[in-house]
Formats: sequence, structure tokens, C-alpha cells
Amino acid sequence: MDLSTNIAGVQLSTCLMNASGARCVSQDELERLGGSLAGAIVTKSMTPQSRAGNPEPRYVGFEGGSINSMGLPNLGYAAYAKMIPGLRQFGKPIVASIAGFQMDDFVEIAKAINEVKPDLLEVNLSCPNIPGKPQIGYDVEASERLLNKIRNVVSIPMGVKLPPYFDPAHHEMLAGVLDRVKVSFITVINSVGNALVIDPDKESVVIKPKGGFGGLGGRIIKPVALANVRAFWKLLGDHIPIIGTGGVETGRDVFEHVLCGASAVQIGTALVEEDISVFERLERELKQWLQQRGYSSIMACRGKLKEL
Ligand code: SIN
Repeated sequence: MDLSTNIAGVQLSTCLMNASGARCVSQDELERLGGSLAGAIVTKSMTPQSRAGNPEPRYVGFEGGSINSMGLPNLGYAAYAKMIPGLRQFGKPIVASIAGFQMDDFVEIAKAINEVKPDLLEVNLSCPNIPGKPQIGYDVEASERLLNKIRNVVSIPMGVKLPPYFDPAHHEMLAGVLDRVKVSFITVINSVGNALVIDPDKESVVIKPKGGFGGLGGRIIKPVALANVRAFWKLLGDHIPIIGTGGVETGRDVFEHVLCGASAVQIGTALVEEDISVFERLERELKQWLQQRGYSSIMACRGKLKEL
């Protein structure tokens, strides 16, 4: 069974990888991903300086999903720039995720990270968890300006991690930006931002930052993730590969993302909950699922969702 895929000219032996944020902050975590069955190593979104992130509790798993407001805890881009060459020992692509609080942050990080040549750059325009900082991906003009600036300072393939959109008009506007900027890939979706999970027994929110508001992940968001993968696939076709993420708990969920148009799939909540053995289980389940349906590769079913 062929689970290999290609994102912007970068070959992955398997289409499964971690989502930025899930078990990928420290060198130890990144090396564990390197030693796992993940097809690539994705870093935590890095910022100019190291960050402790938001106050705890800031992640809670619940039946059906998770809510988080991590606040971009990370070691700062200089630390990841040092680490990236060493991560090559694992022989799999490295995806550097970058974030920032103003345009210059992104440009500064992109320039420095480009020097150490990860395989792909994933520009995070969709973190919902920084108090007072809206998700850039919801401002179409600002996104285009920012992506153009970053594009000018990098030579490696540049992709963008987008928030979920809920209206076809927004998918169309974004697709226009992605085409004009000529991004090399997209990752959809980041968590469903500013949701509220509460504990009615305690009559309380469950996470501390932002009065309990945070990004939803896990099974509960799969339909939103699939809708975004599908909408962008229909608008972009296969000239901008899509990495699907959101609600992947089983091999069947991976298949659903691929059927909607994803060329690869990232795992967030399930990786946090289950640890890196999740890649072995998902690979086994995906292979079984594809075999039962007579497919010999993921590329054979990519985008093939039927409409009624
Ligand atoms: C966080 O660190 O708050 C999550 C990152 C993200 O959603 O982009």
C-alpha cells in the first residue's frame, strides 16, 4: 500500500505528520517525532523570542475533542534554527512553522529559518489564542501583504496554515490571495477559535486564559475541517497541495480528508492524547481501509469525493 505523497516537490514516505503545536516544542519532542512513523517533523510555531505561553490550565481534552489556549509557548526561532540541521538525521522532511505579532516578526523569522533550509515553511496565520491579537487569516488584505513580504525573503516552499472559514465567499477571497501570492501549499484548518467549553457541575470554564475561550480541536471539528479541505480543493485544484488537519482520530478520518482533497494529513488532538504511537495505529487503519476499498495508494482516491 502506497501512503507516500508529495507536497510542493517534497517527497514524504507517508502522508501522516503531526500538527504544529502537538508534542513538537522541545528538541526531545521533535526527535521523538523523528523516530516515529510520522512522515515529516513539524515544529511548534516559532516566534522572535522564546515564550512560556498562557497561564495553565490551557489545554483540556474532553469526550469528542479538546480546547486549548496555549498562547504559542515555544523556544524562539534561534533555538529551532540551531536544531533543524540535527533533525535531518531522521531522513524525513522538516516543516518549520512560524508565527508573529507583527509583520516584521514573520519576515525576520522567515529570513533566518530559510538559511537553515527546512524542507517547507508553514506560515501560521491562524493562532486564536493571543489576547488582543486577531487571527491574521481573517483579514484578507493583511494576509496578502504579509505573505508577499515573506515570499520575498524565502527560497524554500512557503505554505500557509489557515483558520476555518464558514462562508464560500471567504474561501473564494482566500483562494484568490493564495493564487496571487503563489503559495506552495496550504494547511487547513487550525483550531476552531474562541469556542467555550464549560463544566456545569463546577459552574466554571475549563481553561484559564481569555476567560475560558479557546481553540477547539479533535473529533468535534472534523466536519468543519473537511468542508474547508473540500472548498479549497474545488477552488485550487491540485496546483496548491492541501494538508488537511482537524478531527483525525482514525484511519477512516484520514481517508475522509484525502477523499475531500488533502494530499497529507496532520494529527493534533489525537497525538496529544495518545502520544506518538498514534502514527503506527493510523497507518495500519488507513492501509486496511484503503485495501478494503480496492485502492493501492492515497493518491488514487485524493479528491474523489462524489456529489449527489
Ligand atoms: C497556541 O499555541 O495557542 C496554539 C497555536 C495555534 O493555534 O496556532
